[in-house]
Amino acid sequence: MLASKPQKEIISLERVQLHYQEGKTVFSDVSYNIYSGDFYFLVGKSGAGKTSLLKILYRALRPTSGRVCVFGYPLDSLSRSDFPVFRQHIGLIFQDCRLIPTLSIVDNVALSIHISGSKYTRSCAYAKELLDWVGLADFLDYFPDSLSDGQKQRVAVARAVVKRPALLLADEPTGNLDNENAFRLMALFEELHRMGTTVVLATHNNELVQGFPYPRLILQDGTLFSGIPDELNKKKA
Ligand SMILES: Nc1ncnc2c1ncn2[C@@H]1O[C@H](COP(=O)(O)OP(=O)(O)OP(=O)(O)O)[C@@H](O)[C@H]1O
Ligand SMILES: [Mg+2]
Repeated sequence: MLASKPQKEIISLERVQLHYQEGKTVFSDVSYNIYSGDFYFLVGKSGAGKTSLLKILYRALRPTSGRVCVFGYPLDSLSRSDFPVFRQHIGLIFQDCRLIPTLSIVDNVALSIHISGSKYTRSCAYAKELLDWVGLADFLDYFPDSLSDGQKQRVAVARAVVKRPALLLADEPTGNLDNENAFRLMALFEELHRMGTTVVLATHNNELVQGFPYPRLILQDGTLFSGIPDELNKKKA
């Protein structure tokens, strides 16, 4: 019998510790591997360290100790010149959206692929398609300041997925949304996942976590462990 194809490691965390300067320990010992094609919900109480962990993964924050590799890059020795290439393959959705206030929403989304080399008109066409999907087709020329928090969040999602990243790191991408819109965005994340993107999605939304058969990464007491939803356990039994 043929051995199954080995999965490619996308994220590797080895004995990661994080202490903020104020002396607070966020991670005392985190080790975990995430493989190409995985989809995880990242859960844990407020303050458990979800945002901190995602920041470590896109190298906005350096852990106090331990080893972190993403796409095989050891992040502690990532050089400035490697940075753009490294980040180009990651779609980021920030908890506070971080749209560019001086650009219209279509340009906020289009810029993400335009800077990777796609022609402006083509970038805009993709951006419009996605903004239509997230229900913002009538707001293309609006600026972020004139949108509600939920609308801004949908722009941030469109911006992150438009470049079809190899890895999507999403920090509370549905935090400001009603459940109808939250589930609609989940359909978008699932579509991206089907096309090969590895997804780590931090959320407090229990209905979302329970509504989909993806395993959870649970942050608790400074460590990280995985849990499988009951539904999956039943199917496996
Ligand atoms: N820049 C910082 N300096 C000092 N402490 C920080 C900093 N950022 C976060 N913390 C602390 O680290 C801990 C983890 O914060 P983090 O934002 O990662 O939690 P979280 O799980 O994302 O919470 P939430 O669900 O509320 O978004 C918290 O106790 C927080 O106070
Ligand atoms: Mg957070």
